Amino acid sequence: MTSLPPRKAAIGERTQALKAVPFFTQMNDQELDVIRSVAVEKSYPKHAVVLTEGEIGDSLYMIESGRVKIFIGDEEGREIILKLLGAGHFFGEMSMIDQQPRSASVTTLEPSTFLILSHQAFEHCLERAPRMANMVLRVLAQRVREADRKIGTLALMDVYGRVASTLLELAVNTNGKLVVSEKLSQQDLANMVGASREMVNRILKDLSDRGFIAVESKSITIINRELPPSL
Ligand code: CMP
Repeated sequence: MTSLPPRKAAIGERTQALKAVPFFTQMNDQELDVIRSVAVEKSYPKHAVVLTEGEIGDSLYMIESGRVKIFIGDEEGREIILKLLGAGHFFGEMSMIDQQPRSASVTTLEPSTFLILSHQAFEHCLERAPRMANMVLRVLAQRVREADRKIGTLALMDVYGRVASTLLELAVNTNGKLVVSEKLSQQDLANMVGASREMVNRILKDLSDRGFIAVESKSITIINRELPPSL
């Protein structure tokens, strides 16, 4: 049996890993090899700070494995979670593009490995794989849409509606059922909807008592997706 020389095999494997990234699924092997050849791999333990809001930085992080929390905070330690991202997604593109301070902080929720592209490496990729620009733009457009939806939810819904809409947003169809299986504490959920943990606890209990959701130790199942917009 023949095998590829070691370095080529490594790049080939990494290329396959990149192919699992939604952002890169439309790229061909040649384009992926260009990215792989200039990206740097780095691993972080659970609860590590990857990016800090306000700091200067110019790299984009592609999540090969693990999960991160993107959030903004204040001096009193209060935080608003903007997004949870897992393998196959990326973050850090904003400062990589405009070289302004980081717009949010990012910490790992579990041990995570990233492929990191500096601004310079990105420019190199653009020369050799120009379709990448289009793909980054598409993800940015998607993020603005999501942010618009979130602004609408924060401005127009009460906390009850925000909890309901966030649960629906996080739920994934699992064997025909809508299940939120993100490892989310009630404090995390509170930080996503801009409310206190006690309030979120009351709302989850009410939704559960009224048969809209089933709360288990590691997941929440949506039983009736017509979640009530308010109490
Ligand atoms: P950057 O500003 O470089 O560093 C923080 C990153 O968090 C940012 O790039 C984006 O990748 C990500 N980010 C900021 N705001 C949002 C948001 N509303 N939704 C998803 N990701 C975000």
